[in-house]
Amino acid sequence: MKKLIQKLTDTYSPSGYEEAIRDVILAEIKELAEDIRVDALGNIIAKKGKHGKRVMVAAHMDEIGLIATHIDESGFVYFTSVGGSNPRYLPGGHVRFVNGVLGVIGSERISKANVVQPIDKLFVDVGATSAAECPVQVGDMAAFVHPNVQMGGRLVAKSLDDRIGVAVAIETMRRLKSGPNEVFFVFSVQEELGTRGAIVSAYGIDPEIGIGLDVSHTGDTPNSIRRELALGAGPAIMVKDSRMLYDPKVVAWMEGTAKKAKIPVQREVLVGGSTDARAIQVTRLGVPTGGLAIPCRYIHSPSEMIDYEDVENAVKLLTALLSAPIEL
Ligand code: CO
Ligand code: ZN
Repeated sequence: MKKLIQKLTDTYSPSGYEEAIRDVILAEIKELAEDIRVDALGNIIAKKGKHGKRVMVAAHMDEIGLIATHIDESGFVYFTSVGGSNPRYLPGGHVRFVNGVLGVIGSERISKANVVQPIDKLFVDVGATSAAECPVQVGDMAAFVHPNVQMGGRLVAKSLDDRIGVAVAIETMRRLKSGPNEVFFVFSVQEELGTRGAIVSAYGIDPEIGIGLDVSHTGDTPNSIRRELALGAGPAIMVKDSRMLYDPKVVAWMEGTAKKAKIPVQREVLVGGSTDARAIQVTRLGVPTGGLAIPCRYIHSPSEMIDYEDVENAVKLLTALLSAPIEL
C-alpha cells in the first residue's frame, strides 16, 4: 500500500484539473469493480456488488493549490488560493503548475520577520526575468511539490488530504469480496472548492447510506488547541464537523463494527472544515451519512503527516462495514 500512496501523492491535480490523478486511479482500479464510469464533471464512479443497500463511499481526488492572478513586469507571479491554502505554510514552498512549470514561493524580507504575510503579498518565482518571458499566465493553477518522506511508522507528503482517503478506498476495493451491498466508490472532484463532485455524483447514485473518507486535524502537537484526535490511535469516526452532524445511527454502526473487529477508533468533532459527507447527506430526500477520517497533522500544508497504522485500521474497518448486510 505504501507504493500506491506514493504514486497518488506524487501526482499533481489541483481542484478542477484532476485528469492526471484520475488516470492513475483508473489504472489502479480497472480490475477491482464491475462497472466503472467517469461523469461529466470528472468524478470516477466504480460499482462493486449487485444486491442489498446502495452505499456511496466518497474520497476526493483533488488537492489544494494556487491560481495565478497577476504577472508583474519582472515576471513574478502573484496568486490566490484554490481551496484553503494558508499563508503561514506557503513561503519557501515549491509549486508545480499544471503545465509543468516549477516555482518557489517567495515573500519579501520585512523588518518584522515573524509576522505572517497575507497571501496577496506572496509571489511565485519561476525563474523568469520579465513578464514577456514568464511561462505562466493568469488563470494557470499550481499544486505543492513535496517528496514522499518515510519517518518510521509515519509518512509526510503533500496532498495526503485526500489521497490517503483515495488509497483507503482503493485498498478496500481490493479486499472487499463482491458482497451483500451495492457499493459505489466515488473518487470525487473539486471537494476543496465546496464538494462540487460529491454533490452531482450523490444525486446520480441516489444512495441509501453515505460514507465520506477524508483527513481530520489532530490535537497532539505541543501547543495545540484542546482536541482529542492523535496520530496512531486509530481512524476517526466523525460525529460532527462545522457543516453537519453525522447520522447517529451510522456512528453507532461504525463504532459497533469497530468494537466487534477489535479495531481501535477515535471519535472526532471537527471544529473548522467539512467533507464530501455533507454533500451526500443533503442530496435529494436526504441520506444517513457517516464519515471515516485519517488523523493528519499540518493539513493544507505541503508537509502533511499521517500514521500508517491508522491507514491500515481504516481499511480494515471500511472492509468490515461493507462486507456484511447493513441494518441501521
Ligand atoms: Co482539504
Ligand atoms: Zn479533504
